[in-house]
Amino acid sequence: MRIDILTLFPQFFSTPLQSAIFQRAQEKALVSFNIWNIRQYTHDKHHVVDDYPFGGGAGMLLKPEPVFEALEDILQGQTAKTDPVPIILTTPQGEKFSQPLAHKLAQHRRIIIICGHYEGVDDRIREHWVTHEISIGDYVLSGGELPALVISDALVRLMPGVLGSEESATDDSFSGGLLEYPQFTRPAEFHGLKVPDVLLSGNHAKISAWRREQSLLKTASQRPDLLEKACLSSKEKDWLSGLISGTNRETPSGKLPG
Ligand code: ADE
Repeated sequence: MRIDILTLFPQFFSTPLQSAIFQRAQEKALVSFNIWNIRQYTHDKHHVVDDYPFGGGAGMLLKPEPVFEALEDILQGQTAKTDPVPIILTTPQGEKFSQPLAHKLAQHRRIIIICGHYEGVDDRIREHWVTHEISIGDYVLSGGELPALVISDALVRLMPGVLGSEESATDDSFSGGLLEYPQFTRPAEFHGLKVPDVLLSGNHAKISAWRREQSLLKTASQRPDLLEKACLSSKEKDWLSGLISGTNRETPSGKLPG
């Protein structure tokens, strides 16, 4: 996959893109990044990229000309009809980024991300070019650079070959619609804190049942909204509604652990 990022702060990306998963994926030639400095597409002496909004109001807006020129340059030779490239604008007004959207975008050979300007962008950029407006959450950041990295990370880790097979299972468990169960490594006891006995039992059926229950409990307490779409058996649904109404201490597989 090729990821083009248009930004006013190209230096923002230097260290993250040379680290961890981004570095690994680029070394394996599974992904390539091109960071474009929007300011380089200005033609005035002071390289001005923003201007006051027509009609008044606070703040400055990213001007259309440098972004249009940058996109025309980046997309040279790209025939939109045969191979449309998603053009993403990072904005708090966008669709909430999610794992299903990451999977959808990861299917493309190429994507472009325009890092939104902290105070807004001229709407003609959105109207003429943008195919996806994406927000990474209901809070306002000072620019679109962190969202661009968040989106890129979520996509890159889905590229076949980027993660080892053991790591990729983690994604499957989130994509299954429930939060992950708690995990522990050695030592089995640390500062008086013990790893649950079931995990040391070697009984794989019991371990799987315990993990499933923990996922259900965690999801019910931290993200109950996810339960609506998750794939639960009717036994699990009954158990959870019993827990919520306080009438149930049995687990789907037996007694509650501990
Ligand atoms: N720019 C500023 N805040 C943002 C957010 N929450 N998501 C995406 N882009 C943003």
